[in-house]
Amino acid sequence: MARLQGKKIVITGAAQGLGECFAHMMAAEGAKVFLTDIQEEKVRAVADAVNKTHPGLAGATVHDVCDEAAWKSVLAEAASAMGGISVLVNNAGIASMGSIEAESFENYRRCMSIDLDSVFLGSQAAMPYLKDNQPGAIINISSVAGLIADGNLLAYNTAKAGLAMMSKSIAIHCARSRYQITCNSVHPVFTRTPIIDPILAMGGGGDEGEQKLVRQIPMKRLGEPEEVGHMVIYLASDEAKFVTASEFVIDGGISAV
Ligand SMILES: NC(=O)c1ccc[n+]([C@@H]2O[C@H](COP(=O)([O-])OP(=O)(O)OC[C@H]3O[C@@H](n4cnc5c(N)ncnc54)[C@H](O)[C@@H]3O)[C@@H](O)[C@H]2O)c1
Repeated sequence: MARLQGKKIVITGAAQGLGECFAHMMAAEGAKVFLTDIQEEKVRAVADAVNKTHPGLAGATVHDVCDEAAWKSVLAEAASAMGGISVLVNNAGIASMGSIEAESFENYRRCMSIDLDSVFLGSQAAMPYLKDNQPGAIINISSVAGLIADGNLLAYNTAKAGLAMMSKSIAIHCARSRYQITCNSVHPVFTRTPIIDPILAMGGGGDEGEQKLVRQIPMKRLGEPEEVGHMVIYLASDEAKFVTASEFVIDGGISAV
């Protein structure tokens, strides 16, 4: 039996990187997936690619996760495509670099809006669907930067730490309401997706950039998208039905040192 058979999963930010990887891995475990992103052509292409290997399991639409009004219509479209929604993976996000002295308020607000506010909007809009399709799950892709600070990641640190606590609050509300809906946050360290390209480039690019980036990680390598995917599959599955309000690190040990 596939681990996600019968699950109906919305994944945001699924045009590339982690979201794209989750789409393929979750469909391979039998889930229906509905993919959204601001990059319309790319997200539709990902759905087409999933449908090539797993016919009929993927749909897609364009959506900016900061667009409050559009959440309603996007989730209605997803529910109609999949016959409901049982899991929401809030994955869309941006990196933002800047210290308390250098960061502009505009950049700070943009990061908070995409990485944190959007999860409030999406989770709130998804609740009626999740309640109708229990057991359900909300999986929020935070970062190890939500647990450990860097002087140059002011907005990102703040948004991703907020996301961990928002996840716990959602989880406790659902538990106390006797909903079988879990909510957890996932905290990867640098993982091989396009989001880290500018950071690799700053370190000289290629192997040199990668070596500099992984220096502080005890396991001395980048994470791979599939390694995050395995965690997300677990949290979406009924195997994790009693797992809620928790932080899951996939970080080669960095948050322990
Ligand atoms: N790769 C890493 O090293 C790493 C580490 C920790 C956490 N994360 C988190 O993982 C998540 C996925 O990142 P990734 O590594 O795949 O990066 P990525 O840049 O490859 O993918 C992010 C996706 O989100 C989409 N997106 C951006 N803004 C959006 C918006 N307003 N509305 C809808 N979609 C939007 C982008 O178009 C893109 O497809 C992010 O939340 C990121 O913060 C990544």
